[in-house]
Amino acid sequence: MKIIQLTDTHLMPPGSPAYHMDPEAQLRAALADITARHGDADLLVITGDLCNHGDPEAYALLRDLLADLPFPVQLLLGNHDDRPNFIAAFPKHPLDANGYVQDWRDTPFGRLIFLDTHGAGVIGGIFDADRMEFLDDALRGAGALPVTVFVHHPPIGDGIRHFRDISLHDEGRLIARLAAHGPGVRHIVFGHIHIPMAGTSPEGISYSSGQACSHRFITDLDSPTPDWTGGNPCYRILMLDELGLRAFMAEAGQPVLSRATLCTGP
Ligand SMILES: [Fe+2]
Repeated sequence: MKIIQLTDTHLMPPGSPAYHMDPEAQLRAALADITARHGDADLLVITGDLCNHGDPEAYALLRDLLADLPFPVQLLLGNHDDRPNFIAAFPKHPLDANGYVQDWRDTPFGRLIFLDTHGAGVIGGIFDADRMEFLDDALRGAGALPVTVFVHHPPIGDGIRHFRDISLHDEGRLIARLAAHGPGVRHIVFGHIHIPMAGTSPEGISYSSGQACSHRFITDLDSPTPDWTGGNPCYRILMLDELGLRAFMAEAGQPVLSRATLCTGP
């Protein structure tokens, strides 16, 4: 199956910039590219920081932009979001029994699990006992299926100085619970850090982030105050099938310089 990941769209009310960029124009361009090239996708997942300040007007804009897409959409909250305003704008979006924006979907290639790490007024992520109840149930229900996890905050140590104090504040409980899932974790897909990153946790779980759709960092592991930059809207194509899981980075608006010649081997 083909899953499209967008992350950190940071929408503002119409016409308002964020970080010297136009997040609405970025998302419109990304969605146009996605629907043109990947209209066959099975699912679009936006892994949080949907809106920059969580304004009702920004969520209304997001709802409009996502209307009429040819595939289902799963939305996650990030630290910039506002849960009550999100729920008001998307009243049919699934919530767990405790009211968090958490959900799962079964596929022929394992269970997809979507987690909510938003905490009002907190830049880092929260994943406390009442959210863990959902994850426990989702993992138990997965039975012999492997899982693929979508979450805004990376549940692993990323080693990036800027994010040292604004990571997931869970003392490793989430990754430990995932590592205990016998059938395995195919991958953890996240956003938050506004740079592309891929790795493997000490428990042997692979993970990666998508590049932000809007503003992003110039990659800098050491500075507490790295520089923001812009660029073409980015998204990822996640292929989950008999080959496992592969993540492909894509960006809208790339110029074509020439076409490749046909390579027939050897
Ligand atoms: Fe963000």
